[in-house]
Amino acid sequence: MRIDVLTLFPGIFAGPLDESILRRALEAGLIDIALHDLRDWATDKHRTVDDYTFGGGPGMLMKPEPLFAAVEAVRALHEAPAVTVLLTPQGQPLTRDVAAELAGAPRLLLICGRYEGVDERVREHLVDREVSAGDIVLSGGELPALMLIDAVTRLVPGALGGRGSLDEESFEHGLLEYPQYTRPAEFRGWAVPDVLLSGNHAEIERWRRRQRLLRTRARRPDLLANAHLTSEERAWLETQLETQPDTLDATEERPLD
Ligand SMILES: C[S@@+](CC[C@H](N)C(=O)[O-])C[C@H]1O[C@@H](n2cnc3c(N)ncnc32)[C@H](O)[C@@H]1O
Repeated sequence: MRIDVLTLFPGIFAGPLDESILRRALEAGLIDIALHDLRDWATDKHRTVDDYTFGGGPGMLMKPEPLFAAVEAVRALHEAPAVTVLLTPQGQPLTRDVAAELAGAPRLLLICGRYEGVDERVREHLVDREVSAGDIVLSGGELPALMLIDAVTRLVPGALGGRGSLDEESFEHGLLEYPQYTRPAEFRGWAVPDVLLSGNHAEIERWRRRQRLLRTRARRPDLLANAHLTSEERAWLETQLETQPDTLDATEERPLD
């Protein structure tokens, strides 16, 4: 997958792209990332990319001309058609499903805003999608773009190097992940649940599945409406809620009888 990024601060990307999974994915050629400095498409000697807002108001806005010129030039650099994404707090929240959709595109072109954002005509006539990193205003679109790049890369086959299973990660099938432990089996008096030390794989699987249900119900009940649960699982979850409605500790499964 090819990802082009338009930014006023390409230097922000250096650290994150140079470490761990992203670095390995780049080295393996699973993703190809090109950073473009938006000022290269400014036309005056000061390389101006922002201007005052019509109607007044604080702060500056990114001008349309450099953005349109940059996007059109960058699109032409590569034959694969690009999905052009504006990072903005007003966009669709970045979720597992949004990342999966974007991972299916051959090429992404990410636009990172700065200042008070971009001229509305960019939103209306230049971009295909608007994506938000969450209900918070950040100083620029670079960190949201890195989140998107990271999320999408994890979904590219081979990027996790066979070490990580996506299937049970949080948000897969609409559920959070189960609690996990590593050695030591007892730490400061806190013991790992017995079932995980039992060696009984069927029991471990059953415990983990139920923990996913309990934990999702306790922390993100909004996810359950679209989660992939059998009717037995939904009924079982109801019995758990009846015994411990609101204070359900996601690591404590109630006995069925
Ligand atoms: C200071 S913000 C502008 C916010 C804008 N005035 C508003 O209220 O919607 C500058 C830029 O940072 C990026 N940005 C800030 N918060 C973001 C978020 N939660 N998700 C995605 N991009 C964000 C956008 O590219 C935005 O154009």
